[in-house]
Amino acid sequence: MSLKLGERSALLAVFWYGVELEGACEASLACSTCHVYIPYELLERLPEPKEAEEDMLDMAPALKDNSRLGCQIILNKDLDGMELTLPPMTRNFYVDGHVPEPH
Ligand code: FES
Repeated sequence: MSLKLGERSALLAVFWYGVELEGACEASLACSTCHVYIPYELLERLPEPKEAEEDMLDMAPALKDNSRLGCQIILNKDLDGMELTLPPMTRNFYVDGHVPEPH
């Protein structure tokens, strides 16, 4: 299965590869369950987070200066080979009845 770069977010990629990252609001910037850590050397290749992303990140536990929301990272060739790290926990405050699995 191949991933078509330039059209997909990092969140979709982790779903595609079976990583248990929740993504409770399906990329509508209403949760922080897609919180990931970006390798520091790749941070400068990403556009600055928009205010709505920063607002959601402010509510994410275990926030670091390389934190981003995976659903807002649009993949492109500059990010080829990027390895994301998952935080030790997430907080699901998006009430939809979904029961998250620990990762
Ligand atoms: S999935 Fe909710 S903000 Fe990314």
